[in-house]
Amino acid sequence: MGVGAIVGTGILTLIGVGAAKAGPAVLVAFVIAGFVCACAALAYAEMATLVPASGGAYTYSYVAVGQLAAWMIGWSLILEYSLVVSAVSVGWSGYAAPLLHDWLGVPWALMNGPHAGGIVNLPAVAIIGGVAAMLIYGMRSSASVNALLVLVKVSALVAFVWMAAPHFDSANLSPFNPFGFAKSTGADGVERGIMAAAAIIFSAFYGFDAIATAAEETRNPRRDLAIGIIGSMLACAAIYTLVAGAALGAVGFRDFADSPEPLALVLRRLGEPEAARFLALSAVVALPTVILAFFYGQSRIFFVMARDGLLPRGLARVSSSGAPVRTTLFTVLIVGTIAAFFPLNEIVALANAGTLVAFAAVAVSMLVLRRRAPDAPRGYRAPAAWLVGPVAIAGCVYLFVSLPSTTHWWFLVWNALGVALYCAYAGRARPDTDHAGEVRDG
Ligand code: ALA
Repeated sequence: MGVGAIVGTGILTLIGVGAAKAGPAVLVAFVIAGFVCACAALAYAEMATLVPASGGAYTYSYVAVGQLAAWMIGWSLILEYSLVVSAVSVGWSGYAAPLLHDWLGVPWALMNGPHAGGIVNLPAVAIIGGVAAMLIYGMRSSASVNALLVLVKVSALVAFVWMAAPHFDSANLSPFNPFGFAKSTGADGVERGIMAAAAIIFSAFYGFDAIATAAEETRNPRRDLAIGIIGSMLACAAIYTLVAGAALGAVGFRDFADSPEPLALVLRRLGEPEAARFLALSAVVALPTVILAFFYGQSRIFFVMARDGLLPRGLARVSSSGAPVRTTLFTVLIVGTIAAFFPLNEIVALANAGTLVAFAAVAVSMLVLRRRAPDAPRGYRAPAAWLVGPVAIAGCVYLFVSLPSTTHWWFLVWNALGVALYCAYAGRARPDTDHAGEVRDG
């Protein structure tokens, strides 16, 4: 489930956005984003085994800080999960569109939003509808199908490295860092730099948090969550390094910068159109696992927040398939509209803003509980917590600052809405639990 949720648009598509922002130094952006995410993952693993209840960062903040903090973090998670669903669907469409055009003659204008010269991104809307239908009909439970799709995805990436690596030419990596380290705005008004790329590439690494939102459904949460979170992070970091190194070494970064299907493009440039089609097809078949994991995480967040009374309790009602039907349909409407009309990089930037805030909150929660409940049973203890925690917090803050300025404004608007809702509704909730029992007796 971890690798299924993590490997997605980040490596398949955003590598092109990152290359446009940092040139070959997008490799450094991968390392920075991965390092910060790994520190956050260690804190996540500790918190997930200390508080093995559903809800992830929302529940941890509830335990460590209190209701208002939990509300704001839950609000950020809603942003993260919804927008990742939109973003990955747009990324999916980037790989599906050429196939749909070649095989079925679907016009380009119906497969791109206005930002890319089209009218509407219908494939992105269709895949969101398809995944929602799977959730509603309870098709999520098949672990073996997930495993098979993960295998497809990883095999396609390994095949990519296999085909691209022999074309490695160090000249393609020079100049290595054309746009500098910190985020800076060019004469064309575009924000570039290694950190600007890292703030976007960050999305390639998360998804393990979607496992923690389903903590109550693991057999032995204290052990399974730590293995799931850290193991899937390490596996993905290894895969990404190889893929990014192979792509950048094989062709010039400008050849695939900002492409909607950069890895397929690299293979075509290398004279391998069949391999490009195989890769695109694998992405089309396997990317829905990411959409499914985040869609599911979204419904879990709604569920636990509603269970606490912070959202209308009706949202905590599920149908016989285990899926909250009305909430799922409402989510489809919102995330489908966003996917239909907005560009991938803008959606991802806002999703990352929500995630970075949630990850920083998890690191804060870990440190608070190390002080307040030092002896509570932890299935996993993060190594050097007083180093890892502050590094995770500082890293998340720096990545947040490096996001595009427009993203900061959208995030402010989202949080203003959150505060207003808290004052009008959530703040009056008197939940049955303050979640403290989840730390004391596990
Ligand atoms: N890590 C997920 C992706 O790259 C969100 O698509």
